[in-house]
Amino acid sequence: MARMSPVILILGSGPNVGHHVARAFVAKGYRVALASRNIKEEDDNTDQLQISADLSDPHSVKGIFSKVEASIGLPSVVVYNASAGAPNNPEDPLSILLADFSRDLHVNTTSAFVAAQQAALSFKKLPDHMSKTFIYTGNILNETTVASLLDGGVGKSATAHIIRSAAAAYRNKGFKFYYAAERKADGSPAYSEISGEAHGKFYAELTEQKSQGPWQQTFVKDIGYKHFPAS
Ligand SMILES: NC(=O)c1ccc[n+]([C@@H]2O[C@H](COP(=O)([O-])OP(=O)(O)OC[C@H]3O[C@@H](n4cnc5c(N)ncnc54)[C@H](OP(=O)(O)O)[C@@H]3O)[C@@H](O)[C@H]2O)c1
Repeated sequence: MARMSPVILILGSGPNVGHHVARAFVAKGYRVALASRNIKEEDDNTDQLQISADLSDPHSVKGIFSKVEASIGLPSVVVYNASAGAPNNPEDPLSILLADFSRDLHVNTTSAFVAAQQAALSFKKLPDHMSKTFIYTGNILNETTVASLLDGGVGKSATAHIIRSAAAAYRNKGFKFYYAAERKADGSPAYSEISGEAHGKFYAELTEQKSQGPWQQTFVKDIGYKHFPAS
């Protein structure tokens, strides 16, 4: 494969957000690497590298980056889109089993931390003129609690902290870090109405911006970035 086109890596890629983000970046001339558990590596083609990986194992993340670098080049855009967390009993959130809590925290936070770490290492090796962007797909749970979504909320909150810190620390190097969360126009969560297409369009726009914007990117379909008071 030629190494001239920029590379995007999407961790936790499925039929909605992952698929549409990949499409939006292919349209911009990117080579795409996708990683998820059920992906079929034999479906590899010249534009898309498919990597089978389970992000509940944070130790697997470094190997994903190595594979991408060896096959299509260093990623200048990394999207972390995987999430985990089955609904818990809203009246007994502390009944979540430790094994489940720990696994979900790995998917929502620890592997995202390693991905951000690996992304920064990749960004350091890329030429100055390239846009370098890490985007974590979040939701409203870093700002509010939902009784039935304890471990998902813990993970999104913890990763929001990582993103906020990284956005401040690396802005002078030109590395951008974002926590992106789709909302409805009134500020309420998109939930099941989440639009993969809107994510693709918005993530491509975030990537094209030269410098770091607000670390928390709440956005509305067909509108784009919209600031909402904290919930
Ligand atoms: N703003 C909102 O209100 C809102 C609403 C809903 C969702 N969201 C966020 O949007 C993101 C997902 O959206 P989506 O489901 O529409 O996207 P998607 O790109 O269609 O799917 C996400 C993919 O992540 C992969 N994944 C899950 N666990 C994984 C693991 N342990 N290891 C590797 N890959 C894993 C799954 O593929 P495999 O099964 O093949 O592993 C899944 O298909 C999440 O971050 C979620 O929190 C936000």
